[in-house]
Amino acid sequence: MTQPLQIVLIGAPGSGKGTQAKLLSEQYGIPQISTGDLLRQAVAQRHPLGLEARAVMDQGLLVSDEIVLGIIEDRLSKPDAQRGFLLDGFPRNLAQAKALEGALRKIGRILSCVLLFQVDTEYLIQRLAGRLTCPQCGAVYNRYTTPPRFDDQCDVCGTTLRHRSDDNEETVINRLRVYEAQTEPLIGFYRDQNLLKAIDGEGSIANVFKRIRQAIDSIDKKPANLQSKRARSLSCRTQHTKPGAPRKPRSTKRKIPGKPPRR
Ligand code: AP5
Ligand code: MG
Repeated sequence: MTQPLQIVLIGAPGSGKGTQAKLLSEQYGIPQISTGDLLRQAVAQRHPLGLEARAVMDQGLLVSDEIVLGIIEDRLSKPDAQRGFLLDGFPRNLAQAKALEGALRKIGRILSCVLLFQVDTEYLIQRLAGRLTCPQCGAVYNRYTTPPRFDDQCDVCGTTLRHRSDDNEETVINRLRVYEAQTEPLIGFYRDQNLLKAIDGEGSIANVFKRIRQAIDSIDKKPANLQSKRARSLSCRTQHTKPGAPRKPRSTKRKIPGKPPRR
């Protein structure tokens, strides 16, 4: 029996987490769980938690762990998540990562791997400036790289596409700083557990997807109780010595001016 695929996607805003999570969800038949999408849904439904979160999201800061953990716990308990999951944009700080670890331990499950998307800051800014999303079906486009067939209209359902309210320049800079200050420490946290798989997130969507599939297909899918800690560590070490092994994680530090904002 193999373990269900339980994957975390980490990467700066615009690095392609949502785009790739949708493709992976179709490929592996497991749900994409995006805390950003769940929060935006709560905002759209005028749910009290959504209204509380909105101001924080518009500033590009992190919503409180209490709200996010409540949302995630609820979502992970749904029947479709028992087949596995793709966590897109969660965890985003060490407290959330430890809470996830504890929650999975309680139900006897472990993460399969953590995909780290690596994209240079100049591309991130360009991608976010051009992103268009469908408020109806969630499809994502880009004015410059993957435009819809008809101007600002969803190819799938014909709804008028929107530019996300947090994709303006000032908020994007804050989101990048928050990523660097609060989410990048997770790289070391997951590398120490031999779970980290760095993915070159540049190039076409299809090529990035191919790289991710190769990374996932290289995971040892034996049940957790048959994998000793040493065996896990050896299998990961072997992967890193193979030709074409993932590059050392890059940082987004260079081009983001100023200090991270405080909440
Ligand atoms: P969230 O929605 O998660 O935003 P994010 O992390 O900033 O990431 P994005 O969704 O902007 O980027 P993405 O990596 O998904 O890129 P995408 O695939 O769309 O979070 C929003 C806010 O919610 C946060 O700021 C925070 O306030 C709150 N929040 C969420 N989770 C939280 C948590 N856990 N704790 C606390 N607060 C939380 O791609 C971007 C664009 O690029 C698209 O147009 C796409 O078409 C294009 N593109 C993608 N791949 C390629 C490619 N290979 N080549 C060319 N174009 C590409
Ligand atoms: Mg996203």
